[in-house]
Amino acid sequence: MDIQGLQSKLEELADEAVGKLAGVEQKEEAIQVKNRYLGRSGSVQELMTVLRELPNEDKPVAGQAINQAKQAIQGAFDARLKELAQRELERKMREETLDVTLPGRKPEVSLGHPLRQVENELIAIFEEMGFAVAEGPEIETDYFNFEALNFPPDHPARDMQDTFMLTDGRLLRTHTSPVQVRTMQAYELPIQIISPGRVYRCDSDLTHSPVFHQIEGLLIDEEVSMADLKGTLTEFAQRCFGEGTQIRFRPSYFPFTEPSAEVDVECIFCHGDGCRVCSDTGWLEILGSGMVDPNVFEASGIDPERYSGFAFGLGVERIAMLTRGIGDIRRFFENDQRFLEQF
Ligand code: PHE
Repeated sequence: MDIQGLQSKLEELADEAVGKLAGVEQKEEAIQVKNRYLGRSGSVQELMTVLRELPNEDKPVAGQAINQAKQAIQGAFDARLKELAQRELERKMREETLDVTLPGRKPEVSLGHPLRQVENELIAIFEEMGFAVAEGPEIETDYFNFEALNFPPDHPARDMQDTFMLTDGRLLRTHTSPVQVRTMQAYELPIQIISPGRVYRCDSDLTHSPVFHQIEGLLIDEEVSMADLKGTLTEFAQRCFGEGTQIRFRPSYFPFTEPSAEVDVECIFCHGDGCRVCSDTGWLEILGSGMVDPNVFEASGIDPERYSGFAFGLGVERIAMLTRGIGDIRRFFENDQRFLEQF
């Protein structure tokens, strides 16, 4: 090949490379094309062997021509990369635009779940009345949930509370009363505690949920009488439902209290006249209570000759339904925003 041949070959290669570079869409593709011409075994580089065979007087011109071709290709490569980068930037800007004039999202302020609100109100009332808060586990043993509370092994009273049994013999506590036993065994006397928490029973309808909340109360000292129980619960009812609210005691049965009483509060809707909510009785049942049974004291090593006490247990859902006018207990557990927002 002579010098003219080399020159026109170089021009041809440079045109070809510049043309190809103008059409590539990816950076990687551009690099491949560039290497095909300028790389170590690229087609421009290969022409160096031709240069070596040319007569000496042609070599400077040939060298210049090769450099020109290289620069043209390198220039086209650099320009194309810049274009591609610019195009990518523009695409991103287009896709990621923000309309800063759109109204913002309003942050929701939560006042807590209605059940938690009611629970906190009830706890505050009892704390003001001198009760400390104690807690116990939701997974219990038969001993704490039944046996130490004077439920005999095959006593039908166990069926009063359909129990969720675990495969290892333990159970989900059916009431907060096991905390009575736990505090009697762990605390010094006198004792004055409440114990709020979740309890579980196999039961589900408008007014029963398989999981619900109770607040247990326990007061033990020397010379505690039924009058103290009545006085305490009357005071509680006044603070919870308003001054002058009447309560009444109805004889009842619990294995762990003797005597036992169910406590009704004057209907907070009709104030005793009779309405749909109280089934025309004028009263609403709100809790179970009684004097601690001597057998329960003995199971926990407390001398029933010296000490006496009362206990009570109330349902938080029941009070929340009454005070918030909610007809279906399941509403509390569905987490429907439209329901929760109302509180
Ligand atoms: N544990 C009883 C229940 O769940 C309520 C109760 C507590 C009754 C304390 C008497 C004393 O129904």
